[in-house]
Amino acid sequence: MIPISLYIHIPFCFNKCPYCAFLSFTDYKNINIKKYILNMIKDLKEDFFFKNDKRYIYSIYIGGGTPNILSLNNIYFLLENIFLNFLCKKNIEITLEVNILNLNINNIFWYSKIGINRLSIGVQSFDNHVLKNIERNYTYSDILNIIYNVKCYFNNFNIDLIYGLPNQSVNSAIKDIKNVIELNIPHLSWYELIIQKNTKYYNFLNKINYSKIEEIFFLGKKILKKHGYFQYEISSYVKKKKKGLFS
Ligand SMILES: C[S@@+](CC[C@H](N)C(=O)[O-])C[C@H]1O[C@@H](n2cnc3c(N)ncnc32)[C@H](O)[C@@H]1O
Ligand code: SF4
Repeated sequence: MIPISLYIHIPFCFNKCPYCAFLSFTDYKNINIKKYILNMIKDLKEDFFFKNDKRYIYSIYIGGGTPNILSLNNIYFLLENIFLNFLCKKNIEITLEVNILNLNINNIFWYSKIGINRLSIGVQSFDNHVLKNIERNYTYSDILNIIYNVKCYFNNFNIDLIYGLPNQSVNSAIKDIKNVIELNIPHLSWYELIIQKNTKYYNFLNKINYSKIEEIFFLGKKILKKHGYFQYEISSYVKKKKKGLFS
């Protein structure tokens, strides 16, 4: 039987980024999150029931939107309800997708304590000019600080970067890749910008410079490979573990 990987979508964000078409709402403050979670669980239970599905869950991915908008208490409540209502394998991978905003040493520590064993951090770029253009309200030094803290509690984490952004030079995109290597990031999702309808960036559709994007992609891929990053999907790279003397 095919194992189940559970994806839970938390459709709330602080702001709407100009390039993003994922389902998310910024007017979440009056929502009763506990009630929302319980309804989500009820819906999922009905799904399992109607399909008479007795399979085990092998991994959980809490994505968004911005799941770290939820309080620690509510994230714990969500996990607790999953474990109470569904069959889960022991020691499963539990990923929480997080925005740099709202991350700090305190919640990073507590995420690791409540059973989350992988973080996926939306970095997008290390370049302060690019970050400003894409309306991300943090800087290069905030990113370094967060990555330093994440490394204290998580061996397993991912960062998201985007290339092909308006006004992002080849140099800047490649410098992002070099930062990944220098910081020894274990997993990278390196996305080419997709221009989507109903986003602020839809105006850029006719201005895409495909030859620049191609140059970034092939150069970045080559540098990542040289430094031990294995590309297993179009946008996914994992740092290969160095073999020890006896392994
Ligand atoms: C659904 S978002 C969740 C991450 C989190 N909300 C954040 O932004 O920090 C997952 C990732 O999708 C990528 N993404 C979103 N819109 C995109 C687009 N139009 N083109 C390429 N990548 C995009 C970003 O890298 C983002 O971190
Ligand atoms: S990129 Fe992340 S923070 Fe920005 S709108 Fe999309 S889901 Fe929300």
